[in-house]
Amino acid sequence: MCGIVGYIGENPERNLLYKLRLLEYRGYDSAGIAVSRGTSGAPSENNPLAVTKRAGELKNLENAVAQAGVTAGARLGIGHTRWATHGKPDATNAHPHVSSDGKWAVVHNGIIENHCELKRFLQNEGYSFYSETDTETIAKLLEYFEKRGFAPLQAIKRACDVLQGSFALAVLHENDDAIYFAKNKSPLYLAFSKRSNKKTATVQQADADAEAEGDLFIASDVVCFNDFAEEYYALPDKTYGFATAEKAEFYDGTGEIRLSSEKINAKSLCLRNNYAHYMLKEIYDTKNAIKEETDYFKTHLTRENYPLLFQPRAFKKIILTGCGTAYHAALTGARIIEEKCGADCEVYVGSEFYNAGYKLNKHALVVLISQSGETADTLAALTFAKEKGAATLAMINAEHSTLAKAADMALPVNAGAEIAVASTKAYSCQLVALYALAQTFQAAERQLPRPDLSGADELVKRLSYGDEEELRSFATLFGEGKKLFFIGRGTDYFTALEASLKIKETSYINADVYYAGELKHGFLALVDENAYVTAFATQKDTFLKTLSNAKEAQARGAKIILFTTASQEETKPYENSFFRILRVPKTDDALQSVQNVLPWQLIAYFLSVSKGLNPDKPRNLAKSVTVE
Ligand code: G6P
Repeated sequence: MCGIVGYIGENPERNLLYKLRLLEYRGYDSAGIAVSRGTSGAPSENNPLAVTKRAGELKNLENAVAQAGVTAGARLGIGHTRWATHGKPDATNAHPHVSSDGKWAVVHNGIIENHCELKRFLQNEGYSFYSETDTETIAKLLEYFEKRGFAPLQAIKRACDVLQGSFALAVLHENDDAIYFAKNKSPLYLAFSKRSNKKTATVQQADADAEAEGDLFIASDVVCFNDFAEEYYALPDKTYGFATAEKAEFYDGTGEIRLSSEKINAKSLCLRNNYAHYMLKEIYDTKNAIKEETDYFKTHLTRENYPLLFQPRAFKKIILTGCGTAYHAALTGARIIEEKCGADCEVYVGSEFYNAGYKLNKHALVVLISQSGETADTLAALTFAKEKGAATLAMINAEHSTLAKAADMALPVNAGAEIAVASTKAYSCQLVALYALAQTFQAAERQLPRPDLSGADELVKRLSYGDEEELRSFATLFGEGKKLFFIGRGTDYFTALEASLKIKETSYINADVYYAGELKHGFLALVDENAYVTAFATQKDTFLKTLSNAKEAQARGAKIILFTTASQEETKPYENSFFRILRVPKTDDALQSVQNVLPWQLIAYFLSVSKGLNPDKPRNLAKSVTVE
């Protein structure tokens, strides 16, 4: 949800654009950069900070920069890719935002909650505003403090003292050789180039100031440093400071602080290769991702690494939480854990987690599931769980994320970088991780040193993506403009929720999802001859009941699509009941949902493409939602 970068080195325009491409998953409503030459002079005498911004995807900014040409001699720059929160997604509201005197340029990720109040104050001081954003307030506030005699770093400190809400900021001040930064709640990282050699020894010393020669990057995500640095600094909340090409200084309320660097795990870069879209590539990555994940769990998910998880009956309650797709994984995971070890589980979406409050104490384990590890609602759930004294386990894909660092324990799902906004392989890996967690609790009961993951090994061998032609034909069917209903029971219902979400996200088509048994309690009124009702019926014990519910809809004119693990032989008696049948292979019960979701991810993808949409960048959405 908004990506920011800062850069010092050769050709900031090119380098910023390159890194912004990696951050575009955080929003693509608009993009912009500001560059300066630092002390050696401004790009233009009258325009100390050269700002270029465009509405829409990054490619619009890239074209604009290509046409305008490189700003000769620029050495510093900041950049932004936006997911609009305050103000429509146009060029005026695009970042960077500048002060009235043009001396400050600011890019921001987060929300300034008291911006209305600050804006009113600044307006009374004579400042006028050109945009609807909260960020412009920050630029004007910095100018306000500077005009009262504060040096740039002190102006940043003063601004941080009055700003309420979440912010990661990268700031240029005209003719300075530094990029200023500040962070509260929104993620911000800093790294020096590995090409620098003179002072690298200082950088590698733990507990040392970041000090190095060469290029510097500041970014919202460590993914920007992969080809550039070996170590990075994660800024804690309520930190501000500045960085030059040589060094960085970090401050908090008490004064200068020292940060230790952390190693970058470079494997997380994801290439699209020959696939038309990241979404398609990522779906087809699933099998390998699960294999790598399972191999990792075999060596790492041990009593030594996670002693708390291996204590029999250590928790009276297990609460799972997440947002969007991760929430759907949590729903399924809770069922698996309950079935495997009889634990008492509950599930909440991150934004409703406070409702779990009275059940939280040191006897509860809270499992926080998140691909990015940066989702604000999930982070808020973590803070709440910790306040109540519960044990916390982050189940994350992004190893360097805030959630991974802040929870008591972290279990990486190892899906590899996921770029498409709609989560696919990360969801499947979350389901496998939840299965592994359930097996761990079972191992704990049985006093075994590690979980039995043979079910996951089998899954990898048998996992089927299905027949593309057949799945395309379903995409065509669902694109016919009929009313879509998905029904199911138990974990089939959760898969239906996820299938529907994929279709909504990537094709903007609604598929209503109901518990099969609930259809008759009101929703049947929506069904007529324009309805396609898909019955998710992959579990033997609920197959017949779900079938009966589907038939109730059929009796009202609906066309029924059966999604099942049943063989031709098994469905023969009901053959005439169905308009179409989509079959999936049977797997271990606890992992069936992993197999089940795959064809739906592909159907959603084909549906999106058939509508001429870009499945990687659904309108109005962002992959990492860093505001509550
Ligand atoms: C956004 C994304 C979804 C994702 C959700 C949770 O809404 O568009 O695809 O499922 O955030 O993200 P997380 O990174 O916490 O799994």
